[in-house]
Amino acid sequence: MKKIVIAIDGYSGTGKSSTAKQVAAKLGYTYIDSGAMYRAVTYFFLSNNVDYHNLEEVRKSLSDCQIKFEGSSILLNDKNIDHEIRTMGVNQNVSPVSAISEVRQKLVDQQREMGKRKGVVMDGRDIGTVVFPDAELKVFMTADMDVRAERRRKELVKKGIEENLEAIKENLANRDHIDSSRADSPLKMASDAKEIDTSNLTLNQQIDKIVEMAEGIIHEG
Ligand code: DC
Repeated sequence: MKKIVIAIDGYSGTGKSSTAKQVAAKLGYTYIDSGAMYRAVTYFFLSNNVDYHNLEEVRKSLSDCQIKFEGSSILLNDKNIDHEIRTMGVNQNVSPVSAISEVRQKLVDQQREMGKRKGVVMDGRDIGTVVFPDAELKVFMTADMDVRAERRRKELVKKGIEENLEAIKENLANRDHIDSSRADSPLKMASDAKEIDTSNLTLNQQIDKIVEMAEGIIHEG
């Protein structure tokens, strides 16, 4: 059967990752969380005291930063960092780190390599516009800020992290702003993407919508 690439982009907290993961499971595809890769580089800089405002330091240190996936886990230099990349410290630094072109180049090359054989669902900010401009299916997810913040708060509670709703909103708004206004690969909807507003949809409805679109393309020839 024909295999395709599914690119899912959108703002922080619109449910991209949970949706993409289950769409991949339903289609028997590989799920790749590109945001986790930017988070891994951010954690690498923070834990090695790399001043990421200094490009020379960034260039030198990036060659010591090896990221890979093992199943759904992310490894930095062979160490599992699934928990470390979800902290507020990483949340607060990941947008400026992902605005650095050297970081993007390294990760985009790796992402393209992972998608070469197709049969992947990748979520992020520039997947449909830059990483896979020829993806057979592109989805752009949006949702109201209040809905996004509440979803993010519940996610954090599940991980045992209590965070004030206003602080979460501020972090999301701040990341939206940096992600959409950076010079290199800003977050924007690809002209051939399908927009899905998830404010009033359940997770299952979001998943079913995308699986249906994908199956239409897979079976059309
Ligand atoms: O999806 P996420 O919230 O885990 O992503 C974390 C950050 O990584 C996000 O604020 C912007 C950046 N990112 C990016 O610039 N490009 C991607 N393809 C994915 C994420």
